[in-house]
Amino acid sequence: MVERTLVIVKPDGVRRGLIGEVISRFERKGFKIKALKMIKLSKDLAMKLYDIHVGKPFFNDLIDYMTSSPVVAIVLEGNDAVNVVRLMIGQTDGRRAQPGTIRGDYSLSIGENVVHAADSSERADYEISVIFDSSEIVD
Ligand code: RTP
Ligand code: MG
Repeated sequence: MVERTLVIVKPDGVRRGLIGEVISRFERKGFKIKALKMIKLSKDLAMKLYDIHVGKPFFNDLIDYMTSSPVVAIVLEGNDAVNVVRLMIGQTDGRRAQPGTIRGDYSLSIGENVVHAADSSERADYEISVIFDSSEIVD
């Protein structure tokens, strides 16, 4: 089923010059880019994006990190986009993520793991609406 998902190149990914590498992997896989922007997340937006983690021990560090420098937000569209993108980014902890995945190839950390991706279709719709106005998404 054709669906949309949200990917974010996190602050460490942007600082390390991995924007092109991340976009290129998804383009080569066959996803369509429906929206794309660089943005410095406000605390409010970061908290909305990660609202499911409120109260967890890593929450404050996560918000500080996600607001520390600009990120690149991308809406991707394609067959089974949510699951396929999650497969392509790999497990949360870069030390456990399979080589060949983005985190497996570029991260050695659970905190700084290069990319975010929505983990369900419902979350994707919600997260896209947090970051993008509908006028910023192409048909
Ligand atoms: P994401 O939402 O960013 O795509 O990552 P994920 O689904 O693989 O992992 P999730 O459980 O949603 O955690 C969100 C982000 O919080 C940071 N984290 N730190 N120190 C820790 O134990 C810890 N656990 C999670 C990571 O940056 C993770 O991607
Ligand atoms: Mg998550």
